[in-house]
Amino acid sequence: MKLSEENKARHDQQIVEILQKSDRSPVHERFDPVEGGGARRLQMIRESFIREMTRLAITHNAINLSQGFPDFDPPREAIEAAHQALETGANQYTITWGTPVLRGAIAAKMRNWYGLDYDPDQHITVTCGVTEAILATLMGILDTGDEAIIIEPYHEGYLPAIIFAGGTPRFVPLDPPDYTLDPDRLRGAFNSRTRAILINSPHNPTGHVFTRTELENIAQLCQEFNVVAITDEIYEHIIYDNHRHIPLASIPGMADRTVTISGFGKTFAMTGWRLGYACALNPLSTTLRTVHDFMTICAPAPLQAACAATLSIPDEYYSHLQADYTRKRDKMISILNKAGFIVSPPEGAFYVMADFSKWDFDGNDYSFARWLPANLGVAVVPGSCFYGTKGMGKKTVRFAFAKRMETLQAAEERLCSQ
Ligand SMILES: Cc1ncc(COP(=O)(O)O)c(C=O)c1O
Repeated sequence: MKLSEENKARHDQQIVEILQKSDRSPVHERFDPVEGGGARRLQMIRESFIREMTRLAITHNAINLSQGFPDFDPPREAIEAAHQALETGANQYTITWGTPVLRGAIAAKMRNWYGLDYDPDQHITVTCGVTEAILATLMGILDTGDEAIIIEPYHEGYLPAIIFAGGTPRFVPLDPPDYTLDPDRLRGAFNSRTRAILINSPHNPTGHVFTRTELENIAQLCQEFNVVAITDEIYEHIIYDNHRHIPLASIPGMADRTVTISGFGKTFAMTGWRLGYACALNPLSTTLRTVHDFMTICAPAPLQAACAATLSIPDEYYSHLQADYTRKRDKMISILNKAGFIVSPPEGAFYVMADFSKWDFDGNDYSFARWLPANLGVAVVPGSCFYGTKGMGKKTVRFAFAKRMETLQAAEERLCSQ
């Protein structure tokens, strides 16, 4: 669909109105980038709350349970492989799509874990994190005004990515307390303008792991409305109890309309390395590659070599990871219960949405998230910043528990001190 300038302006205004109806209306606390000469699209974007909370944690010297990054190191194998790569010449651009070794290792992983077949030469693209993979995919498929469905609560990066790509967001909520997806509500969001849906499982921030039935329902709608599914599987290996991660691409009829995205940051405790990847058949692979080619040229060369090494770490790594995160999750849940929050244990990922209604606190999630680091020395993320619908998440904050047990212990002392 080609839009005139006038229609584009109308489209931008429409998004501003969607956002004004939400709690995400762009509040620019320091300065307004559009007033400062920035592009119109910035009117629709507010700086990241999650990263703002990390800065607040630093200001108050608080324990940072806001942003989702581990406070422990990547596996030794990865660090040693990175050193070796730096010493042995992996210091220039790689092939745009990623090194053949890393793409080969990702293809083997997708086959061994999920029975999905991708040709590393055509179908796998290494990116600067999951963030870039999602943005490149959306920019490759959305024309101005195309709709993309976001399931809320959602990771903060999805909305800016849709806006950068010129699309229009449409929100569908998960239903608390167990955060399941209502099939009728989902169907109501699909229409002839729908071009894409973003699915994150295991889910940040709720910890929901989408069931086969939920995925089949999404698959059915994607096929009926000719929609591309973009999956964010960054927490695929952080999963609890008897839950199982099922890639949407493995559901019948979805292989050629799904872009499966994952990354190394969370599984291998290396979020600062910025390494992710997208797996897609053609023509989707070519579309996202066209954007990636010019957006970042390639992901960091020595770290690609090191990430290839992580994929040959024996499988026990993943069972240890699961056992270790299960201990952290149980500890976090017990701390939050003791501190008077209302919580339910996540099925996957490393976050808990905690309801603070029982606290003697007169304010919303934003004021609570600003009060907590300043007064008790623990940083969290306000719940409503994961929603596009006004009024949602106002009594919740998100805790991230990808932390050493000592860190969680110290957080317990602070949270239970009041
Ligand atoms: C669901 C989800 N997707 C994407 C990201 C960002 O991934 P990356 O650091 O690989 O860009 C995060 C980070 O917290 C996340 O939780």
